[in-house]
Amino acid sequence: MTARNARRAQHPDIFTVRLDHPADTRTWRAATRRLDAAGVAPERIDWRIAGDDEPGLLPDMFAAAEQSWDSLPDAPARNVPGAFISLADKVLCHRAGDRFALAYRLYQRLRRTPALLSIASDDDVHRAHLLAKAVSRDAHKMKAFVRFREVAGPGPDDPAHFVAWFEPSHHTLDATAPFFMRRYAGQSWSILTPDRCAHWDGKALTMSAGVPKSAAPSGDPAEDLWRTYFASTFNPARLMVKAMTAEMPKKYWKNMPEASLIAPLIEGARGRHETMIDTAPQPAARTTRIRQSHQSAAEAIAQAPIHSLDDLARMGATCTRCPLHSNATQAVPGEGPADASLMLVGEQPGDHEDVAGLPFAGPAGQVLDDALSAAGIIRDRTFVTNAVKHFKHELRGRRRLHRTPDAGEVFHCSWWLDLERALLRPKLIIALGATAGRALTGQPVSIARSRGMVMPLDGQSDLLITTHPSAILRQPDRNKAEDMRQAFVEDLKIAKAAIAT
Ligand code: URA
Repeated sequence: MTARNARRAQHPDIFTVRLDHPADTRTWRAATRRLDAAGVAPERIDWRIAGDDEPGLLPDMFAAAEQSWDSLPDAPARNVPGAFISLADKVLCHRAGDRFALAYRLYQRLRRTPALLSIASDDDVHRAHLLAKAVSRDAHKMKAFVRFREVAGPGPDDPAHFVAWFEPSHHTLDATAPFFMRRYAGQSWSILTPDRCAHWDGKALTMSAGVPKSAAPSGDPAEDLWRTYFASTFNPARLMVKAMTAEMPKKYWKNMPEASLIAPLIEGARGRHETMIDTAPQPAARTTRIRQSHQSAAEAIAQAPIHSLDDLARMGATCTRCPLHSNATQAVPGEGPADASLMLVGEQPGDHEDVAGLPFAGPAGQVLDDALSAAGIIRDRTFVTNAVKHFKHELRGRRRLHRTPDAGEVFHCSWWLDLERALLRPKLIIALGATAGRALTGQPVSIARSRGMVMPLDGQSDLLITTHPSAILRQPDRNKAEDMRQAFVEDLKIAKAAIAT
């Protein structure tokens, strides 16, 4: 007898909830409301995903006793903490078979214990956070590693369509698709995965069932441009194979055109054989392509008013307020929920961020993520942005070396930062380093003198200044670096306490 049939034998009055697909949070919510209002215990619910019958399940064995949740009377949503809603949204995207039951159990337990989510030692809470963390990480990887291939439109005059194949570890596509909608608003694209597919035609997003990899196109001419760009920006002097494979795990390589270059580039860097880099065609090919697509998007939104962070990101993509836009791949907007009470401001996107289009996605981001989690701050609930939205660098040979933005560039870009602040109205803003401090206060700041103090910034937000995570990365002395890291975590803990009050 299967585990499911055994459970049915134990609880003959079981309710079945049939979910339309593996990330069907809508049905889960509707069913949870009714089942909970009717006082149905978690053990009496059989969560089933359409088309995913357990082998050996005898569907009719207890058919007489089986009841469907939608036979129960409708019930209004109960008041639950906002933190539960965002936690459950992530838990439900995990691949774990117990995710629906776990989220339901937490929902029921919140009735008796409203502060349940703050009990970190509770088994359910602990597991939910583990699942949510894995889902956040998976979504982040999807945003960074999806690679589109261009396919011709159906007719000679039809625009090209862009198709990506991706194998997420969890059911993260539904939640991540809006990010791609914003990022590639003016193009039509599909992201295909084994579980679900997302399609955007420039106006509407539709989802469909998963497909096998053979349905995805393999290879297009634009990939040569992308490989050229990757090879030309690859920096042998900064090669850290361990950090690189931790940030870009090998399982993603097979779907990334540039991955075929990684091994030879590492080899070449080791043996000082830079022939591939030397013979690569012009470096700026992909940069130009992306920027051209931004310019056409610019025409479409030039008249649009700014009502949301999405509007802001779209407008920011077209910014030419200072010369920095001319050498960067793209503007990197802030990332995070619009109701975040904590905003973190860095200096400017680095090499990784310029390519990924996300703030703090590279090594400095790793230092930041580790420090945030050591301080008990969940990054996904914060809004992370930069004082300057374009990557300022200089080409040294084929290497792109970071250059600190000057006061004029910081001033020009503070227009965008001020708009982000006005939309978000965070309780506290953390300035990561001197550039962010200058952008926020309008004057030079000394990190050593002003760090770790919560001070009023304007009528609506407080400010805390601390070090930039890159300063920790750059510190060659390991003991000093560890001291700096601890001081950074202490500052973040002060910030956490300030937003809790
Ligand atoms: N450094 C920054 O200041 N911001 C980033 O996004 C990455 C590195």
